[in-house]
Amino acid sequence: MNFMQFARHAGLALSFRSSGSYWERRYRAGLTSGLGSYGDLARFKAEILNGFVRSREVRSVIEFGCGDGNQLGLADYPSYLGLDVSAKAIDLCHARFAGDRTKSFLWHDPRRMVNLQNFVTADLTLSLDVIYHLVEDAAYLSYLDNLFSTARRFVILYSSDGDDASSVAHVRHRRFTIDVERAYPEFRLTDRIENRYPEQSFCSFFFYEKIAG
Ligand SMILES: C[S@@+](CC[C@H](N)C(=O)[O-])C[C@H]1O[C@@H](n2cnc3c(N)ncnc32)[C@H](O)[C@@H]1O
Repeated sequence: MNFMQFARHAGLALSFRSSGSYWERRYRAGLTSGLGSYGDLARFKAEILNGFVRSREVRSVIEFGCGDGNQLGLADYPSYLGLDVSAKAIDLCHARFAGDRTKSFLWHDPRRMVNLQNFVTADLTLSLDVIYHLVEDAAYLSYLDNLFSTARRFVILYSSDGDDASSVAHVRHRRFTIDVERAYPEFRLTDRIENRYPEQSFCSFFFYEKIAG
């Protein structure tokens, strides 16, 4: 891949206004969810996630930030709900998985979602390649709240976990493990898997299990 192809895949040419509008404009411009959802990285993510779902007998999955559906095409989940801030992402998933009755999708405005967990929960909730794109503090905090409040048994995050500065406007690294420990003591960090391709991604897998009501 040459630099122009890389820049296009990574969405580097788009200006940044807010994390929500960035993704909508990115998908409308015909760009993808990014390098992390294709090739080696997508296969690595799917292998870990499908193995977990199978071995822990997970019956239902909610993903916050499902993206363009390329990563999801490798998933083997009994029942799945994908949410995204981008309407275009939901349209792409709708078209791609039309006829697959195990997959549901919902376009949402995270700022206008209140007490979702009273009606929508799953065994496992997922955050894949999203945390470090939540540039605004309010977006980050409400995202964590939705992710952890709707999980009945497990939460899996695939993300960076540091506060290194980023030179790219749509990336902000966060030490989310500290925030989770503080805000969601009912969840325990049970495992961490480093990336098989560290030269391609700064993300690792973080596995949380609910230990109390
Ligand atoms: C890098 S893509 C990852 C897509 C998918 N999770 C994957 O691994 O292929 C990030 C996605 O998160 C979505 N997103 C950004 N902020 C969000 C938020 N606050 N709530 C839900 N989705 C969000 C974007 O629209 C985009 O589709």
